[in-house]
Amino acid sequence: MYLNNIRPRRNRKNHAMRSLMRETILTVDDLIMPLFIVEGKDKIIPVDSMPGINRFSRDLIVKEVKELWNLGVKCVSLFPALDDSIKDRLATESKNPDGLLQKTIKDIKDACPDMLIMTDVAMDPYSSDGHDGIVCEKTGEILNDETLDILSAMALSQAQAGSDIIGPSDMMDGRVGHIRETLDSEGFHKTQIMSYTAKYASAFYGPFRDALDSAPKAGDKKTYQMDPANLTEALREIELDEAEGADILMVKPGISYLDVIAKMKERTNLPVAAYNVSGEYAMVKAAAEKGWIDGEAVSLEMLTSFKRAGCDMILTYFAKECAINFAKN
Ligand code: PBG
Repeated sequence: MYLNNIRPRRNRKNHAMRSLMRETILTVDDLIMPLFIVEGKDKIIPVDSMPGINRFSRDLIVKEVKELWNLGVKCVSLFPALDDSIKDRLATESKNPDGLLQKTIKDIKDACPDMLIMTDVAMDPYSSDGHDGIVCEKTGEILNDETLDILSAMALSQAQAGSDIIGPSDMMDGRVGHIRETLDSEGFHKTQIMSYTAKYASAFYGPFRDALDSAPKAGDKKTYQMDPANLTEALREIELDEAEGADILMVKPGISYLDVIAKMKERTNLPVAAYNVSGEYAMVKAAAEKGWIDGEAVSLEMLTSFKRAGCDMILTYFAKECAINFAKN
């Protein structure tokens, strides 16, 4: 039997020793909570494929945000679930100053002024085609340059309503620079951009598309979202987003893309975020409901792995649950 006197287990011998040795600490400061909003009053509509996650009407979202703030969560990312009747080809509703999202941002800022608000920029929640860009009526192609003005108008409208962080999730070429220029020319140089830098054409978004009823009506998103097989291509997107003026870079989804997160952290001096997406949440919840895994432990392990890989912050549907746990311990 070979056994030398080097024993890594000494450093793991008990809880106190493991605490000393711990390299990665996950705290509530790292977490951003995505929230779904709907029109109306006094409504809490569960998302079937995301147990524990609801769509809130404006009056109730304010309560939810205050609760999150009291638990230590300092940023929420808002997604409006809109009725089909107000969706159109050009996502016109997205720049309505009295739109659901804009009104909700103002309500939250009135009630909880220090909570940071992030808003998503892409056409899909507002588009009758369910795509992130304009669909060409003749060819079905997603038009890049024509979409940029719409995205910028949407971003500006969100900034005017009070959004702190603009999150372009559409993957059109040149959108970060276009949005930056628009925001600056209107005096919003303090509004940040968290770019969905490496956003993959992923099957993990399924439950989110249920929540917003925003799945593409035809085709898929593969001509603009990245091929899950690619890493080097993400490096190119990093260079572009840095040059175009992004403040934070994001990888999405997260758990199958930890290598992308690690590489991004190595390549950029900007803060790195990851989006622990709806399908990742749903898998944990479904297995936990069956009693096949310990959902709480698995979610903490997942989120810790994001940090170990190099994330500075994580968008996650587990944010509230985690914050409650952290507050208990
Ligand atoms: C919209 C958008 C999507 C998500 C965030 N913003 C869906 C998509 O690109 O189809 C997914 C988030 C999640 O799955 O939790 N462009």
